Amino acid sequence: MRYDKPISMTPLDARRIVAQPVDRVDGPAKLSGAATYSYEYHEEVPGAAYGMIVPAAIAKGRIVAIDSAAAEAAEGVLMVMTHRNAPRQGSGGDAAPQLVGSEIAHHGQAVALVVAETFEQARHAAGLVRVDYEREPGRFDLAEAERQARPPRGGEHRMGDFEAAFAASPFAVDVSYTTPDQAHAMMEPHASIARWDGDRLTLWSAQQLPDWSVGDIAATLAMPSEHIRIISRFIGGGFGGKISVYADAILSALAARALGRPVKLALTRQQIFNGTSHRPATIQRLRLGCDAEGRLLAIGHDSVSGNLPGRSFEEGAASQTRLLYAAPNRLIRNRKAVLDLAPAASMRAPGEAAGLLALECALDELAEKAGIDPVEMRVINDTPHDPERGPARPFSSRKLVEALREGQRRFGWERRDPVPCRVRDGRWLVGMGVASAIRENYVVEAKARVRLDGQGRLTVETSMTDIGTGSYTILAQVAAEAMGLPLDAVTVRLGDTRLPRGPGSGGSWGANSAGTAVYDACMALRDMLAQKAGLNSTDARFEGGMMHGGGRSLALAELAGEGVSAEGEMLPGGLTQSYAQASFGAHFAEVGVAIDSGEVRLRRMLGVFAAGRLLNPKTARSQAIGGMVFGVGAALMEANVVDRRHGLFINHDLAEYHVPAHADLPDIDAIFLDEEDDKSTPLKTKGVGELGICGAGAAIANAIHNACGVRVRDYPVTLDKLLDGLPPIG
Ligand code: MOS
Repeated sequence: MRYDKPISMTPLDARRIVAQPVDRVDGPAKLSGAATYSYEYHEEVPGAAYGMIVPAAIAKGRIVAIDSAAAEAAEGVLMVMTHRNAPRQGSGGDAAPQLVGSEIAHHGQAVALVVAETFEQARHAAGLVRVDYEREPGRFDLAEAERQARPPRGGEHRMGDFEAAFAASPFAVDVSYTTPDQAHAMMEPHASIARWDGDRLTLWSAQQLPDWSVGDIAATLAMPSEHIRIISRFIGGGFGGKISVYADAILSALAARALGRPVKLALTRQQIFNGTSHRPATIQRLRLGCDAEGRLLAIGHDSVSGNLPGRSFEEGAASQTRLLYAAPNRLIRNRKAVLDLAPAASMRAPGEAAGLLALECALDELAEKAGIDPVEMRVINDTPHDPERGPARPFSSRKLVEALREGQRRFGWERRDPVPCRVRDGRWLVGMGVASAIRENYVVEAKARVRLDGQGRLTVETSMTDIGTGSYTILAQVAAEAMGLPLDAVTVRLGDTRLPRGPGSGGSWGANSAGTAVYDACMALRDMLAQKAGLNSTDARFEGGMMHGGGRSLALAELAGEGVSAEGEMLPGGLTQSYAQASFGAHFAEVGVAIDSGEVRLRRMLGVFAAGRLLNPKTARSQAIGGMVFGVGAALMEANVVDRRHGLFINHDLAEYHVPAHADLPDIDAIFLDEEDDKSTPLKTKGVGELGICGAGAAIANAIHNACGVRVRDYPVTLDKLLDGLPPIG
């Protein structure tokens, strides 16, 4: 279906199964170890050899010599591939061809692949490969690179006369915030198994967007896309880190072809930190001006981030500011600088996650200057329509103010003292902070197929993935509700590019887009079944495994006979142009800052969100909390530390790249407001997966300022940055 007109009523509105907090249908398989991840297809692909890459030990320059003789002679070694013997490759998308020359573009780039009979033999032999390099100076410092940053790709977004309005504003802040490089740090490493059958390649590979990956791999290996099949049935987290294709997929495929034998290759945790992608650091300048009532007169948001030469991705940290608050005078732009660090790419809520860390704190600073409560400041500057396009482009739904008010009430905001350092709990200075959340709503093309068999079982098929978010569950719910079947009569098959092309998991578009394709397929199946019974489908009611209509009740199993199947698709129409679409929310955080050590402890946190209809309140809540946990990490601990002499991230494992653990999260909750958005899709939902991180870290940073009076504008807010500003112990 092309979705260009809102549908007011659908069979999903009954909400018997959809919108219910059902348990994950794949939960038992995951708990029992029966859910198979990419590296684990021992039975389906017996006899695979093991690969191990050798990562570049410099960030920029060239290989002058490689001595692989010792590795080749080592026990169990089947081959050593370097740029001297690697096959020629094309290039496609962001899938970097591997081992194609002596040039080194970034630290951690593969310079050799060792394949052996066992994992231990491959790892041992990889350590025997000797590489001599010639170093060249590289660009590793964003602040330095900023001076050469290119003008914005999409232009700058100007409205009114920003400079004049900012200069004339009664209250104003002009502040710069910096956010660091961050790692996706998903649990499952990047891993692939490659097997060739003649000129056909099958890859069991952790890919969030497997159909996109097929295209990139086909271009890289210079072969037809139709000859490549990717299987990604379960993915142990992605967060954007498994959107592009990396060395594991390309090198396992090349080695398997050369050896005539399946090859499996996982990247080590250390190799992932420097050799794959990361969220790039940003430098953001915020210029905000308001009147005495707190109304914004001028919004200026400039952001710069870095990436390798030739890479298109930039962190659009200023972008969400276009839609979040009203103001007649605006200047919003993102710029990109060239850096020679590992590739920068999307990480959970690319844009908003970094952008709101800056915007939502700068707004707090302005509120304080103008003497306005931070919640009121956000309420005052709400807008019912796209601020640039005006009333011609209203929001499809927007419950920012409701989320702020609900959170304010539940969190006990009235107990907040606006003056820092006045609330004490023993050695702890206690403070509260708030921040808005916004994440743009995307819907993309998707296809799905449903098949009903003679036993009344429905099978749903799409190459959509489940990266831990709950795709299996919510697609089963949509199909069960649409067909009037019990949930356990539905089987969902995902993560195989032989199936109808799904949207993949990215941009928080997956549930909504794949779900609509499944809904559309079910509606087509209902038509077919009704016709079989000589009924018009609008006269048929599907409930309890039966079709009722025309004075009769027929079992779907019987109607299906030998089996019936139907296909469906989602084709986004113009509704995202005519309506501004986004999910919204508000974060509230309470922290303690130790007056003697500057140590920060989160005490409580609440997120209130509105994201349209929730297909499953339980999986949605888990996503929201997961995103908030990311926000805690961004505020307090996560940072790839750049070695500016050698151009690498020096904290390249989970011992040194700190993410929040349970002990860091004493009391955290997320609730959703009732909302349905028929401008989005017939499912009436909006994106959920990335919303929780948006603004979460800013609420914590604002709480830290409220607790101890110190404003840190360089994330993460670690105790060394607080110590000098703390009040005397007394
Ligand atoms: Mo997301 S960063 O599009 O997986």
